[in-house]
Amino acid sequence: MPPTRVLFVCLGNICRSPTAEGVFRRLVADAGLADAFDIDSAGTGDWHVGEPPDRRMQAAAAARGYPLGGTARQVRGADFAAFDHILAMDRDNLRDLVRQAPAEHRAKIRLLRDYDPLGGGDVPDPYYEGPAGFDEVVTIVERACRGLLAALPGTVAAA
Ligand code: 4NP
Repeated sequence: MPPTRVLFVCLGNICRSPTAEGVFRRLVADAGLADAFDIDSAGTGDWHVGEPPDRRMQAAAAARGYPLGGTARQVRGADFAAFDHILAMDRDNLRDLVRQAPAEHRAKIRLLRDYDPLGGGDVPDPYYEGPAGFDEVVTIVERACRGLLAALPGTVAAA
């Protein structure tokens, strides 16, 4: 079976989507499914391209056991064909992705919190928030990523 390709998308690709990438990586590794997934993240904007994840986000994620890596990149047209599931962190990201995507790939695009058992909507943007905002991102993303993993075909036992 080819790996299932999952892309997480936020605005800057330095806070929320790198966290979703790091959390989802850990969850699939813990489930023994690392080889079954290709996981990446990107931003709809280009302001932070080439930067590592925000230090405040790295600190909040590391405190919960999730090391974050990678450098920011912007979403590119080829992503819509290359990935099987494209998860937007908020409704602005969702709208931007749907606008950019070729029609045949639009059904791959969902809000990450569609998989949050405690509710849908946005992963709040923490960029102008204090430490509690970053910790809340980890909490929401962790819950939604567990829901996502449980929802993907062939991974129900890992939930
Ligand atoms: P992210 O957070 O979209 O979760 O990576 C943000 C990062 C940077 C900015 C906004 C949100 N910014 O305005 O530069």
